[in-house]
Amino acid sequence: MNPDDKTFYSDIPFQAIVEQSLAGIYIIQDEKFMYVNETWAKMAGYTPDEIVGKNMRQFIHADILEEVMDRYYKRIHGELKSVHFITKAISKSGAIVRIEVHGSYVEFQGKPAVAGIGIDVTERLERDEELKRSKAQLQELAAHIDKIREEQRGKFARELHDVLGGMLTSMKMDVTRIMRRVNTPELQEITRGLRLLTQETIDTVRKISEELRPSVLDHLGLQAAIEKDIAEFSKRYSINCHVDQDEGIKDLSPRKITATYRIFQEALTNIARHADASVVTVSLSCEGENFSMEIIDNGIGIDLRSSRIGSIGLLSMKERARAIGGTLEVGPGLVCGTRLCLMAAMN
Ligand SMILES: Nc1ncnc2c1ncn2[C@@H]1O[C@H](COP(=O)(O)OP(=O)(O)OP(=O)(O)O)[C@@H](O)[C@H]1O
Ligand SMILES: [Mg+2]
Repeated sequence: MNPDDKTFYSDIPFQAIVEQSLAGIYIIQDEKFMYVNETWAKMAGYTPDEIVGKNMRQFIHADILEEVMDRYYKRIHGELKSVHFITKAISKSGAIVRIEVHGSYVEFQGKPAVAGIGIDVTERLERDEELKRSKAQLQELAAHIDKIREEQRGKFARELHDVLGGMLTSMKMDVTRIMRRVNTPELQEITRGLRLLTQETIDTVRKISEELRPSVLDHLGLQAAIEKDIAEFSKRYSINCHVDQDEGIKDLSPRKITATYRIFQEALTNIARHADASVVTVSLSCEGENFSMEIIDNGIGIDLRSSRIGSIGLLSMKERARAIGGTLEVGPGLVCGTRLCLMAAMN
């Protein structure tokens, strides 16, 4: 076996190979099929005899006919050497068959022709399209759930604060009044305890309400909410934090403010849980039509391959970024640690 030997190629049974090929093979000359193998014909539900001698135009879908003929003549005239594309054929039963074709210029019986190979990709494309549709539907669903979750958080936060907080304050006032009237040391002790417990419950309700939807976000804006959270985070975890915020951030729409803030919160939670960092930098900047939020820590760094099954933090951050038309990059920091960067349009 020596490919340099002149008889080597002439001995290869090309005809048998072409006839048995699982890919469709064709030769077209003067717009007519001069040869097709069994597979090519079968893709459209024909036998080779039903195709050979027929004009290619009758098998091509009207949507794509002009484009296919243009490509065909470009190859015939040597303007295009070979092309790779997906064409729409009409089968014998009238159904659309999508064929991935790779064809090139050849000489056949002394005249220009196009020889090519094709495979039926109808099912693959249908699966791809179905997948794309499901992905889009899932993204829509995620955005919808997120919107409802955000609305409910806001509603619970307000009800907890206004209704429950109001009731507890009335209770505290009543307990104070009782405390003033009781004259036995034992009852005074009990009412004092009750007053303290009521105050603690008021503080807890306020805290839960703030966690659900920080009032500072609605009243003072994103910058103030970030400053406040960073100060608490720095104190609680003894992490050195630097914040740098562009004034323009205050012009973000409420939807973008909420998404940015939730991404910021999850990034901080992740740093506290996983990073083992001693320094964190948060920068929010605006440039022209766009804004970005960059959060960098100097911790152990993120290994994106080792994400725990069931962890949804990163996924939900990305989804939130996508829902506001932005992108989220998560990866290693320049020197060490982890860098997260949200980028989106201001409006
Ligand atoms: N700042 C960081 N430094 C180091 N590793 C990180 C950092 N942020 C995330 N990770 C890693 O990426 C993984 C995925 O993060 P993700 O937020 O998706 O999940 P999680 O925090 O483990 O769980 P949850 O679903 O509760 O958020 C984490 O388990 C952690 O290993
Ligand atoms: Mg997380």
